[in-house]
Amino acid sequence: MANYKKTTRQQLKILVLGGFGFIGTSVVSLLSKKYHYVQAASRKNGLNLLHEYPTKKYFQTFAPDAIINCAAHKGSVHYDLTYPADIAQNNLRMNLNIYKAAQSTCPKAVIINLIPNCTYPGDLLVQKENEWLNGPVHPSVWSYANTKRMLQALSVGYWNQYGIVSKNYIIPNVYGPGDSIDPQKTHALNGLIIRMLLAKRDSENTCEIWGTGKPKREWIFVEDVSRAIELNLENIQPQLDPINIAQNKAYSITQIAIMIRRISQFKGRLIYNTSYPDGAPVKKLNDSIFRSRYPNFHFTDLQKGIQQTVLYYQKLIYPPNTTTT
Ligand SMILES: NC(=O)c1ccc[n+]([C@@H]2O[C@H](COP(=O)([O-])OP(=O)(O)OC[C@H]3O[C@@H](n4cnc5c(N)ncnc54)[C@H](OP(=O)(O)O)[C@@H]3O)[C@@H](O)[C@H]2O)c1
Repeated sequence: MANYKKTTRQQLKILVLGGFGFIGTSVVSLLSKKYHYVQAASRKNGLNLLHEYPTKKYFQTFAPDAIINCAAHKGSVHYDLTYPADIAQNNLRMNLNIYKAAQSTCPKAVIINLIPNCTYPGDLLVQKENEWLNGPVHPSVWSYANTKRMLQALSVGYWNQYGIVSKNYIIPNVYGPGDSIDPQKTHALNGLIIRMLLAKRDSENTCEIWGTGKPKREWIFVEDVSRAIELNLENIQPQLDPINIAQNKAYSITQIAIMIRRISQFKGRLIYNTSYPDGAPVKKLNDSIFRSRYPNFHFTDLQKGIQQTVLYYQKLIYPPNTTTT
């Protein structure tokens, strides 16, 4: 295995773009335990990736050995359908600026990209790497998913022309502590937890599920994403063909809702608001490549992950001394 030559393990300089976001926060927290130089960057602390020159200056100043690209302009399916032009434009521009800046200021840095599994063909039931581009993405995620396909194309072009090393990972829907509390912005499973806890707090008789509850999805706990990124961080071989970080398990939204209902002890009924689009019927990722490379990787059990997430949101939603029975 080829490793970074000039820097020892602890000295590796790691730049986490989108480092204050949902996944970025978890990545920073995990890697900071092992590496001295882990820098989170986003507009929050002055890095706007939409601007080419400031991005170059930032990369030049920090001089990263590894760039973990957790930055994106994204939202719910509804958001993607409402703002497709903004999503396309901003994601393409950010990713272009990242590669241009890396090429001109830190060409030895390894770039790690997180690609959502909605980039698979929309009608594929089990998403296997060799079928990744064998058809169009689902129309409900057209803009967002296609910019992520383009990100992988950029990584291939920059490797072929400039020798920039990238690693591309495909990940399913992420859940876990640390996400936004705004139900409109948060990710699907976390959003459902928030809505159920709010319904419980307000003694509602029902909790609304967006869509029919039938689509099946694969879920990954946010800390598992960070641990998977860390696995291969010091290897400088490119991984241009994306590999799934996967378990090959899918659960329907209704199954998940029933689990959350039991864990959060919400006593009301689940009702379905079918004016929300469902998206693709099934998204499950084949795990054979991941399993063969990392046979000892342990994924967090869904129930335990949901328990931790419910606890996290309970602390945010229930003020001290609130009765929640
Ligand atoms: N969450 C999932 O279920 C999931 C699944 C598969 C793949 N992914 C991928 O994983 C990555 C991280 O996702 P996430 O869920 O952590 O997203 P998130 O919580 O929305 O975080 C995105 C981050 O991008 C930053 N950002 C947006 N525009 C920016 C700009 N112009 N300049 C600099 N930073 C900017 C935001 O920070 P500021 O607003 O402070 O700038 C934010 O920290 C994304 O690439 C996403 O596609 C996520």
